Amino acid sequence: MDAATITTPAVLILLGPPGAGKGTQARMLEEKFGLIQLSTGDLLREAVAAGTEAGLAAKAVMEAGDLVSDDIVIAILRDRMAQPDCAKGVILDGFPRTTVQAEALDDLLESNNQKINAAISLEVEDAEMVVRISGRYTCAGCGEGYHDTFKKPAEDGKCDKCGHTEFKRRADDNAETVASRLAAYHAQTAPLITYYEGHGVLQRTNAMGKIEDIARDLEEIVGRAMK
Ligand code: AP5
Repeated sequence: MDAATITTPAVLILLGPPGAGKGTQARMLEEKFGLIQLSTGDLLREAVAAGTEAGLAAKAVMEAGDLVSDDIVIAILRDRMAQPDCAKGVILDGFPRTTVQAEALDDLLESNNQKINAAISLEVEDAEMVVRISGRYTCAGCGEGYHDTFKKPAEDGKCDKCGHTEFKRRADDNAETVASRLAAYHAQTAPLITYYEGHGVLQRTNAMGKIEDIARDLEEIVGRAMK
């Protein structure tokens, strides 16, 4: 391949509290820009369902709404980023969530000659997050996300994407756990906004509006960041 045609895979980070819309927006960006969405929440839920050692260690922590240990999450993320499909570029959804994770990501990217194109902070009020999370459900077939009020399937009871008719709700989407997840976000993840501001890659976006309006803002930000 001509050296001039070699491009470094893009790395985008979606930062934001539980329910901010990271997963919803990451899936839309994935389709639009041909990137791969990497959600550490999804990877951990897969590990829990598969009963792996990491999954067994993570299960109770996730049910309590606390953060899973940095060692476990970093190992899972590192393995996933080594898969060939990530050469298309990645959207990190829910990672990093602590300064230790952010530093581990910096080391990993440096060893791969990659850099962060943008860390995008989705800014939402706490009260809105509770409303969003309590109405959330996903397609049991393809994982497409829905909401009781804000995002219903076009045909009642049938997934728009894959036509599946079964849906599920997450075990940690209850009022008590949401309060712990919000507390963990404010104590351990929100400081990353300053971290990435210091690294010159932070982009802030108001995530209180409609899904489509936020998607349009994000497309602009990501389009610029990938140039
Ligand atoms: P994770 O799965 O990452 O959950 P989270 O960060 O709490 O985020 P959510 O998935 O709840 O929300 P989201 O921002 O993706 O919102 P969504 O798009 O679904 O993590 C779960 C747990 O795993 C953690 O608590 C922790 O224990 C562990 N974990 C994961 N990563 C970790 C890490 N790096 N380190 C340590 N532990 C880790 O939207 C929510 C709902 O709102 C949907 O129904 C959607 O349709 C709706 N919606 C979205 N946008 C809008 C809008 N603009 N208006 C109205 N409704 C909207």
